[in-house]
Amino acid sequence: MVNTKRTFLFYGKYVELCTMNTNAHAPIGLFDSGIGGLTVASAITAQLPNESLVYFGDTAHLPYGDKSADTIRYFTKTIGAFLLSKECKIVVIACNTASSVAYDLLKNMAGDNAHVFNVIDAVVEEVIQKKYQKVGVIGTLGTINSNAYQSKIQAKNNAVIVHQLATPLLAPMIESGFVDGQISNLVIEEYLSAPELQDIETLILACTHYPLIKKEIEAYYLSKNKKVDVLATNEIVAIQIKNFMIENGLVNYEKKGKNAFYVSDYTESFEKTTQLFYKESVDLIHLPLFK
Ligand code: DGL
Repeated sequence: MVNTKRTFLFYGKYVELCTMNTNAHAPIGLFDSGIGGLTVASAITAQLPNESLVYFGDTAHLPYGDKSADTIRYFTKTIGAFLLSKECKIVVIACNTASSVAYDLLKNMAGDNAHVFNVIDAVVEEVIQKKYQKVGVIGTLGTINSNAYQSKIQAKNNAVIVHQLATPLLAPMIESGFVDGQISNLVIEEYLSAPELQDIETLILACTHYPLIKKEIEAYYLSKNKKVDVLATNEIVAIQIKNFMIENGLVNYEKKGKNAFYVSDYTESFEKTTQLFYKESVDLIHLPLFK
């Protein structure tokens, strides 16, 4: 890893600011409980095709959404240490639940060795930039109970009304492969017709699994003749990361190395989705990190 010391002139003296991982050839690390983070990984690949990815799907512990904040922090610490050991230049918490409760912890852990991104801040910025006034948020119990979206949005503009609804069935449903049939449409309809979500201009899909049912959610609103903009975290965070990498000289312009996908437990849906997103052959490595 190439670490460059950064200094700045302060009252005539050079002061060491921080060291930074500036190795453009280093991989980007990501993790989630399962296939959700793959939606972020594929959005990053679409924006930055030469980057190599190291992905960890904590399939042994999914779903994350109903676990306590302390448990999620423990998982994050262990997986974060693994991704940092791979010398990633950037680590993305490709999970809203972990982003809500473990971002500061991972940022402190990484220090100057890697730039840590959560999947919440870029979406909050989008809401503020687009001047939405009535916002709906759906996500796991962990994300909704943490109040992360509401507090971050209202810290920037407290006139914005935020309606939140926990939708705990969605991530396990998607993880089990129910994404575009009768079952998924029934569950989507049940949640989106909740009174909390009736008066909104935009709906934040605050779980990285949900881009896999974004089309169905949009179709639901279309069928009800309702104009609701559906915001998926994966594409927004990928653009934020790309801009950051361009500004900081971190883009790999040379030929890409291989991606590596690790799972803490083998699941068929993970393998299937990985192959769906990454047409090339995928190395799926079983790594029982917690044993
Ligand atoms: N994809 C994750 C999120 O964004 C976690 C879903 C789960 O495992 O409950 O919250």
